[in-house]
Amino acid sequence: MRRTALAAGLTVVSVVASGCGIFSDDEPADLQVYTARHYDLEKAFDEFTEETGITVEFLDGDDAELLERLKKEGEDSPADIFMTVDAGNLWNAADQGQFQALTSPALDAAVPEDLRDPDGQWYGLAMRARTVVYNPEKVDPAEIDTTDSYAALGDPKWRGRVCMRDATASYTQSLVASLIDLHGRERALEIVESWVANDVQIMSNDIELLDAIDAGACDIGISNHYYVGRQLEDDPDYKVKVFWASQDGDGTHVNISGAGVTTNSDNAEDAQKLLEWLATDGQSHFVDGNFEFPVNPQVAPMELLAGWGEFKRMPVDAKAYGSLNADAVALLGEADYE
Ligand SMILES: [Fe+2]
Repeated sequence: MRRTALAAGLTVVSVVASGCGIFSDDEPADLQVYTARHYDLEKAFDEFTEETGITVEFLDGDDAELLERLKKEGEDSPADIFMTVDAGNLWNAADQGQFQALTSPALDAAVPEDLRDPDGQWYGLAMRARTVVYNPEKVDPAEIDTTDSYAALGDPKWRGRVCMRDATASYTQSLVASLIDLHGRERALEIVESWVANDVQIMSNDIELLDAIDAGACDIGISNHYYVGRQLEDDPDYKVKVFWASQDGDGTHVNISGAGVTTNSDNAEDAQKLLEWLATDGQSHFVDGNFEFPVNPQVAPMELLAGWGEFKRMPVDAKAYGSLNADAVALLGEADYE
């Protein structure tokens, strides 16, 4: 296994207050959102304010950091909504008592069952696929296994040709947690070991991985779909194509960004309105800026994504992604996956 030297493991943690209120003496907004999601929130929130008159401000930071902050602030927390990336993180925040259960027929209708908490504590609002990507000049898509496309990257025919993300990435950990959930630990370990045996090249971010495929440094890999969307928008000749993984098997691995109303919110009514809006009228405002898929099946994805065709997705198991995270990390270590 090779590891590229570029920017390995560099994480920037920042907490930035946007708008007024949280860190100022100005009149606070109606709703305060703590968010680990950084893409294009302002536009969606402004649109919501315009339509409803409810004002929103947000504090932006790292998942774990914001969760700790919520817990420390307790009843004094100004947060009404906690928004985060990865179903495992949503499950974890609920498990630690940070969300209140909502009753919302609108959210239940808008968000598929596996993309929300059964008790209404959190709801998925945007969906990303983590799927196989390849260089069409190096790989004939007919060569890619359609039953278990992830496991099949351990086939010796791909030796020295595969790029994947590092073990510290939550994207890698949730994918491996889903393999444990689907196949059991023993088989999941076998799969990860087969990738390592194939001399998989480990990259420290998805863009770097896609650029390596575009440049021909690797032929095939696994990436979040929206990075491909972004790169293709900048360069229509980008030599990376999306392959919907495991369409004859369990389907493509997906994950969500989502949110819930915090336990100590003093404006749960408006907070619920914002979540309902984000899952319905506001879906496109929320997901399109980051080339993500709507969770609401009534809302069409943006044209570029629609052009990749429909796909069958693996059901999201938030509890597995959250509760198996430590197992996934241990398994990656055991397999010497860096
Ligand atoms: Fe990302």
